[in-house]
Amino acid sequence: MWVRSRTGFLVALSLPIFKLSKRSVSMFRAMTLPVSEQRTVVEIFVEGRRVVAREGETLAAALLNSDVVPFRYTPVSGKPRAPLCLMGVCFDCLVEVDGAQNVQSCMVRVEAGMQVKIPRGARRAGDVK
Ligand code: FES
Repeated sequence: MWVRSRTGFLVALSLPIFKLSKRSVSMFRAMTLPVSEQRTVVEIFVEGRRVVAREGETLAAALLNSDVVPFRYTPVSGKPRAPLCLMGVCFDCLVEVDGAQNVQSCMVRVEAGMQVKIPRGARRAGDVK
């Protein structure tokens, strides 16, 4: 089931990995830009589900705007994690992008058609991209 979030993005509600916060909206909100500065809308896919993003924004921003949380589960305890620093320091935003594991989503820009997976457990040995 798809619903439109307060920020205007489509949000998938049917997958168990997508949890809405208790406030039902992310603490992050997209800024409203003047028409002349508005960006092209692109589609990415998270665990096979369509998510709408704005071209040029970071993948972490796109996922947060779409209320996709958590971003990963730790290898040792299996605890959920989500971005903390949004500047490439904490490594809590790691996701799999187009088959490449442990990608810092706060450091990559959204590209149309990106396939994003939520890591669960340790990186698969031998899968280096
Ligand atoms: S959010 Fe900290 S490294 Fe990406």
